[in-house]
This record gives sequence, C-alpha cells and structure tokens, in this order.
Amino acid sequence: MIESTVATLGSSTLADGGFWKTLFFRGSGQATYSKDVDFLFMSIWWLSVVCFLGLMSLMVFFVIKYRRRPGVPAMQSKAHNTPLEIAWTVIPTIIFVFIFFGGFYAYAKQHVAPGNSLKIDLTAKKWNWNLIYPNGASSTELTRLNGVDVPIFMIPEDTPIELQMTSTDVIHSFWVPDFRMKIDVIPNRYTNYWFQAEPLKEGETSRDHWVFCAEYCGDNHSEMGAILRVVSKEDFAKWLKEPFDGAMPLADVGKVLYGTKGCASCHSVDGSANTGPTWKDLYGSDSTYADGSTATMDANQIRNSILDPSSQIRQGFTNQMPTYQGQINAREMAALIAYMRTISANAPASDIGQTWGETAPEDPNAATGN
Ligand code: CUA
Repeated sequence: MIESTVATLGSSTLADGGFWKTLFFRGSGQATYSKDVDFLFMSIWWLSVVCFLGLMSLMVFFVIKYRRRPGVPAMQSKAHNTPLEIAWTVIPTIIFVFIFFGGFYAYAKQHVAPGNSLKIDLTAKKWNWNLIYPNGASSTELTRLNGVDVPIFMIPEDTPIELQMTSTDVIHSFWVPDFRMKIDVIPNRYTNYWFQAEPLKEGETSRDHWVFCAEYCGDNHSEMGAILRVVSKEDFAKWLKEPFDGAMPLADVGKVLYGTKGCASCHSVDGSANTGPTWKDLYGSDSTYADGSTATMDANQIRNSILDPSSQIRQGFTNQMPTYQGQINAREMAALIAYMRTISANAPASDIGQTWGETAPEDPNAATGN
C-alpha cells in the first residue's frame, strides 16, 4: 500500500504527438484545454519554420543572383511597390490576429474553472505538496522517484477539478507539464488551478502525471514533486470512501504522513545527515539543544518539536523548520510518533510491538480533517 510503482506516465510515444511535439513536450497535452495550447504552440512553431526557411532561402538566392560582378552595373532598386507593401502588411496582420485570439481563447479556457468542478484544497510548503479532499481525506500512498519519496494523489478521470491553493511559507508554483499549465502558490492568499484529465484509454487502469514546483523555494526545491494518478470515477469514489486511516496501523499512517507532510524533505530515517536531525533511533534518545540543555525525546518532546520547532533547536542545526501548528490533527500527531517509535532502537521495549493502541481509534473528526 505504501510503496507503489509508477504506472505509465502520461503519453510519451511518437504516435501520440508526432516527432516535434514529443521532442518539445514528451507527448500530447493531457487536460481538456491542453489541445488548444498544443495547437497554438505547434502552429507558431511551423509558422516560424516556414518563415525562417523561406527568408533564408530567399536571402541566399538574392546574394548569389545579385552579387557584384566585374563589368555588370548595379541594378536600380524600385522605391515603391504598392501591391507588395499591402501584401506584407495584411498577411502578417491576419496571422498575428489569429495568434492573439488563439492565445486569448486558450488562456481564458485555462483560467476559468467550470462551476461544477470538484474543489480540492492544496497546501504547499517547503518542500512538499498536500491535497486535502472535501471529506478530509489525503494522500495515502508514496512512491520513490529518483531517490525522493513523493505522494500520489488520486484524481478522477474526465472530471473538472479545481485546486484551491495556498502556501504556508514561501512562493511555490504548481506545475503539471502534461496539462501545460503552472500557477504560483502564494502564502496568505488562494490561487486556483483547474484541469480536466483526459478519460482513460481502453484497458488503462490509471495514468500518472508528474507534478513539479516551478518556483525556486530553497534547498530541496528540485525534490518538491508529486504524482497525480488519474483513475476511473468508480475507483476514485471507492478510494475516497475507504476509511483508509482507521484500517491502517497507526505507525503505517505515520510512515505515509512522514512523506506527505513534508518531514521527509529534512529528516532521514536511515541515520543520514540532512537539514534536520535523522529520525532513526531518535525516539527515546537524549538530545542536546543549542542552549546546552538536554532532554529525552519522548512523545511530548517530539510533539513540541513539531508544533513549536524554534523553541528547541538541536545543537548543530539551524532554525529551519516551519511550525505545524494547525496543520496536523491529533491522530496525525499520534501516528507520526508511533512511526518514530518503530524506527528507534531507543524506544522503550514496552513500547515496541504493542499491537493494541497502534491502530487508530474511531476519530470523530476524521470527516472534517480537524
Ligand atoms: Cu516549492 Cu520550489
């Protein structure tokens, strides 16, 4: 459930987009409005190719034909040619008007979400994305791409989706290359991003699209990725309704949250150094802080580190972590602590292997995500 392989990523065959489109874009656009973008882009590309080749051929031709030769006097050039001047004014004007309206039409289509869109909240922070579905559900799957754990977000096929996006720290930019759109994600205000993924093809059970951050946001900007997994409407409804959190052992929920809440960006779980202390063997260990004081990393100490990170900076580290106050609910906190226990040799023996209490109790707030 937690580790999963990435299914086919968008379309990447020549047959899907032709040589040039595949070269520029890796394949055809995968949202309903992407066709307009592709069409306009490819039109401008071919127009440029034709104009470039035409002009260069004419230039070479003229250079040869009218070159200076001994004994041949230079031809007088005409000062004016009305039909020619009308032609080179009117034809480009028509072309530019076509480009302008094509661009305006595609832009408007990209930026105005249909009224019946499914609204999903997106929060960006250094350095991860999180989607919160209307019923409070969030990503339950991670996948490893180029050594980075990124969350997988389920999306129904052929359904207009509107993301209401905000950032908790700096400016990020939500970019899905397959959809041909990127929009900045800004702190203290919402920006919107909408798309309607193409229907799945015959025999296809899911299709993955890369998500990147397209605004430099610090050390791990390049690792701020995610996968949008397009599934059938039935599969999506089933996934959304599944009481996945309650059914999963709490420590496993914590392992998922470790990726989806962004912990993985700064804390390793294998003991390796990173922006923050490793979580391996952290639980139950003695920590020394910048002011020289020490404390044992028990549940309370961990909770405080998550909610008020600047109050206890570990020796040898700098104040980098944003507060998670208001962004993590009680069960999520419990799940993270449960997970940290399972990866620590310092966890008191009685804490390890406890089966009771490791499974989340019924959470009355689960539906609202509080
Ligand atoms: Cu977030 Cu770059």
